[in-house]
Amino acid sequence: MIKIERLSKTYRVEGQEVSALDDITLEIGKGEVFGIIGRSGAGKSTLLRSLNLLERPSTGQVLIDGEDITGFDHNRLHTLRQRIGMIFQHFNLLSAKTVAGNIDWPLRCTGNLDAARRAERVSELLALVGLSEHANKYPAQLSGGQKQRVGIARALANRPRLLLCDEATSALDPETTQSILRLLLDINRRLGLTIVLITHEMQVIRTLCDRVAVIDGGRIVESGRVADVFLHPRHPVTRSMVAQGDPLTAAMLDPAHAFAQDKLRGTLVRLTYLGDVTYQPILSRIMAASAARFTILQGEVSSIKDLPFGQLLLELEGGNEDIRKVFAELDRHRIHHEVLQ
Ligand SMILES: Nc1ncnc2c1ncn2[C@@H]1O[C@H](COP(=O)(O)OP(=O)(O)O)[C@@H](O)[C@H]1O
Ligand SMILES: [Mg+2]
Repeated sequence: MIKIERLSKTYRVEGQEVSALDDITLEIGKGEVFGIIGRSGAGKSTLLRSLNLLERPSTGQVLIDGEDITGFDHNRLHTLRQRIGMIFQHFNLLSAKTVAGNIDWPLRCTGNLDAARRAERVSELLALVGLSEHANKYPAQLSGGQKQRVGIARALANRPRLLLCDEATSALDPETTQSILRLLLDINRRLGLTIVLITHEMQVIRTLCDRVAVIDGGRIVESGRVADVFLHPRHPVTRSMVAQGDPLTAAMLDPAHAFAQDKLRGTLVRLTYLGDVTYQPILSRIMAASAARFTILQGEVSSIKDLPFGQLLLELEGGNEDIRKVFAELDRHRIHHEVLQ
């Protein structure tokens, strides 16, 4: 659905060229939830805003459904933007309008519906985001979560195919964040809406996204399926972001900091696995077939979006031949293993 090809953006600040995006190439599929992470200043907002041309690329192309939007004239761009919804960290609601008035606003701007049809659409959207009771309140009378629900309803008013989210849950408490994420996931599934989001919260990526790209210094340094990138981060920025706020993963990625080395006798091995194998007694079968012994030092069984996964840090003890046998069996069951020391 979206194809970004060799996109670069430079800003001119006091006569100096500042590179915000540098040769970005990326594809996002229809119905996909795609996350973009990176440190502050990495270029995330610039990239997101390039998708509706709020930011004009210096070079490169942005294709939506096969059409290069960088060549669109004013009218076509106007039409395109109606088909792309956007939500923001600080909601950007019109404070002098009611909840219903805020949601009605984009419908008025488009001018395709008469007043009765607009009212019908507004009440549909209010029900969708669970705000039917609050139609006549003003933004100042709402909680943060409710404000973002208004933001979402407003973004969906003109039935967009694409929703852009710029740190949409960053101003919300954890519980409210979860409820907004559930709403976004529900909308993605029910409406088949493509979502591109940027966030500094890794939990948002784990809960919502199918794929993720990591951007640093205006370049994509890593991208892939969320489970693959989060369980096997390669770039230092990805490693540090994935470990942030997650001591277990931090210890798994860098066990030297987590364990007293003099306590270790055997081989330190990290296992990771995805999907059905998570709920099968494969480890006990493998170990029964070998004379090697194991100690679990650290472990997690959870899921990333709908995909179950496990990661275990084991100390393996035994003869070389026994351990080789364990590794061969792990391979056979497609359990990824890496020897850490
Ligand atoms: N309008 C602008 N004028 C000049 N420089 C900008 C402008 N917008 C962003 N930048 C610069 O581009 C880089 C990327 O910014 P941004 O996309 O906002 O990063 P992020 O969203 O990842 O924090 C930063 O160095 C920022 O200072
Ligand atoms: Mg930003």
